[in-house]
Amino acid sequence: MRDVDLVLEAGKVAWIGATGKPPAADSLLDAAGRCVIPGFVDSHTHLVFAGDRVEEFTARMAGEPYAAGGIFATVAATRSASDKALLQMATKLVREAEANGTTTLETKSGYGLSVTDESRCLEVAGSVAEEVTYLGAHVVAPEYRGKEDDYVALVTGPMLDACAPQAKWCDVFCEEGAFGPEATREILQAARARGLGLRVHANQLSFGEGVRLAVEMGAASADHCTHLDEADLEALAGSATVATLLPGAEFSTRSPYPDARRLLEAGATLALATDCNPGTSSTTSMPFVIALAVREMHMTPDEALYAATAGGARALRRDDLGALGPGNRGDLVVLDAPAPAHLAYRPGVDIVATVVRAGRIISPSPSARS
Ligand code: NIG
Ligand code: FE
Repeated sequence: MRDVDLVLEAGKVAWIGATGKPPAADSLLDAAGRCVIPGFVDSHTHLVFAGDRVEEFTARMAGEPYAAGGIFATVAATRSASDKALLQMATKLVREAEANGTTTLETKSGYGLSVTDESRCLEVAGSVAEEVTYLGAHVVAPEYRGKEDDYVALVTGPMLDACAPQAKWCDVFCEEGAFGPEATREILQAARARGLGLRVHANQLSFGEGVRLAVEMGAASADHCTHLDEADLEALAGSATVATLLPGAEFSTRSPYPDARRLLEAGATLALATDCNPGTSSTTSMPFVIALAVREMHMTPDEALYAATAGGARALRRDDLGALGPGNRGDLVVLDAPAPAHLAYRPGVDIVATVVRAGRIISPSPSARS
């Protein structure tokens, strides 16, 4: 832990160092001995949806297994919700995330599954988050049941035409019950040809080819990484594909957690993200995810903090985020605690005191401050 002064100018970190006497500035935020960390980079969320699936969660807690099919309930609710209702819901979740210290969000479509609905979900996504992902390949749309090839043709054809201009990334849920390796490859190739960056929901519910495909295709991130064999670890190690772990999903589906230590020992780069979605991880809290990573996945508090900030930035291929170096965006969190380990040590307690993005306080909101 160091005592430092940090100068933000025009939304960026202009200077950081140990002086003891603060350099001149227009306004001063005195952290008063509390700990300052980079803002959290939540590189994997699904914030555009309607309704909830609390009954599915309750049934699961009573012993029902999770299956990808639950997604259809949210697709039906999302399709029948207005744009305004979707925006309101997503905005509420973004405010929650910000109050918990998140300063950068990625979010996806994936609960529309028609050209019109995916496109309007991306419109909402783009107005609430800075990193936007097209996930038309979340599951095969219900009206295409038994006609997966036709749905893949839609996702790589007219839906991609409509959605590519609205997104920076394309994601595929590569899993039994969603998309197999051939379809995943075809969709990723089509998206890459349109200039989209790639991400993959990989090896969440079972072993499979998702992670290796993600690495082979140069995806920025392979997300979940819950079931990995040696070949997956070898592929990830030293690659440019970040392994993004989403322990909120294992928590809420009562599943075994990914083996973070094995990944770290193999030399993979890790990110931690919330996966906030109505089915498997109904949380926007990065502190909660850090607590899970430390308690359940045996990451050290420092490893977890790095994965939740710099790791997330790498998963989004952003070199201006996730650390408080000069030139980076001025995104930081003041914790009401002397050290970041308190994020895991005090689970469920709100120790996020002040959140700054691009040099401006975003939480508490101005009305809550006055
Ligand atoms: O990341 N795995 C796919 N998508 C989500 C779950 C979606 C849902 O159940 O609604 C996830 O866990
Ligand atoms: Fe997800």
